[in-house]
Amino acid sequence: MGKWFQIPPGDPYFCVVGSPIAHSKSPDIHLAFGQQFGIALRYQRIEIPANCFANAVSEFVVEGGRGMSITIPLKEEAHAALTTLKPRAVLAGAANMMTVATDGITIADNVDGIGLVRDLTRNHGLSLIGKRLLLLGAGGAARGVIPSLLEENPCELNIVNRTLTKAKDLVNRFSTLGSLKAFDYESLPNGPYDLIINATSLSLSGELPPLGNATIGALTCCYDMMYTADGRTRFLEWCRDNGAGACYDGLGMLVEQAAKSFSIWHGVEPDTASVIATLR
Ligand code: ATR
Repeated sequence: MGKWFQIPPGDPYFCVVGSPIAHSKSPDIHLAFGQQFGIALRYQRIEIPANCFANAVSEFVVEGGRGMSITIPLKEEAHAALTTLKPRAVLAGAANMMTVATDGITIADNVDGIGLVRDLTRNHGLSLIGKRLLLLGAGGAARGVIPSLLEENPCELNIVNRTLTKAKDLVNRFSTLGSLKAFDYESLPNGPYDLIINATSLSLSGELPPLGNATIGALTCCYDMMYTADGRTRFLEWCRDNGAGACYDGLGMLVEQAAKSFSIWHGVEPDTASVIATLR
């Protein structure tokens, strides 16, 4: 019997792995998608701490699991441990989902960027073409979404980070994909920007990035990749207080990346608007 997984015979089994995991909304989202099509599936939260992904995924395959969503702190480990990587996961250096193929091969992908861009463009009606974008943060969350943002052909994407070298590393990594520049908060050019995306981990602790308010104008849209029950975050409150035109949290991104995973696993595109509305 496995340490992490005991999967009794039954409907196709999926899960979300990470730590902490108790708060995850992924089971509700995937079960709601399944109901839309009458697709029977099981989907559970499984607490897997750092440095345990490789063992856990081997067990998952042996036990007959079909697919996993992968969250903090396992995305980089998953990238290293899984046998086959889709180009999006290679680019991001991280995986946020995997699929077990019929031959037991594990296929890693990263659909975080797709989730973000779909939420921005489909749910919030934004076009990024020719726009000035500012991304706050240069950690794993930022790295995962940069290729998808650049695919939308913004006129510029500035990355601002407390540690400038990490922002520069991202510029080097993705420089062939579009117009990308690195700054620290002191040297960041004033805006206003068309879109500011918070990909720092600061919202988790309710802190603010040291961003000057000249980056925000009346037409600036502000997005926090973190989500809350009521859609409000400290960062978005600050943006609103400084005159931002629109403010969105990351709930839509979560649901859209889940929808992309669902379509990879089940071959159908679920409706996301109804699920986002239910979760609010
Ligand atoms: P994640 O995988 O969630 O992106 P991470 O890789 O630890 O987590 O990255 C956290 C991001 O939040 C980084 O960009 C980090 O800035 P540094 O690279 O300078 O560490 C940013 N961050 C965390 N605490 C911060 C703070 N007090 N002020 C500014 N940025 C902060």
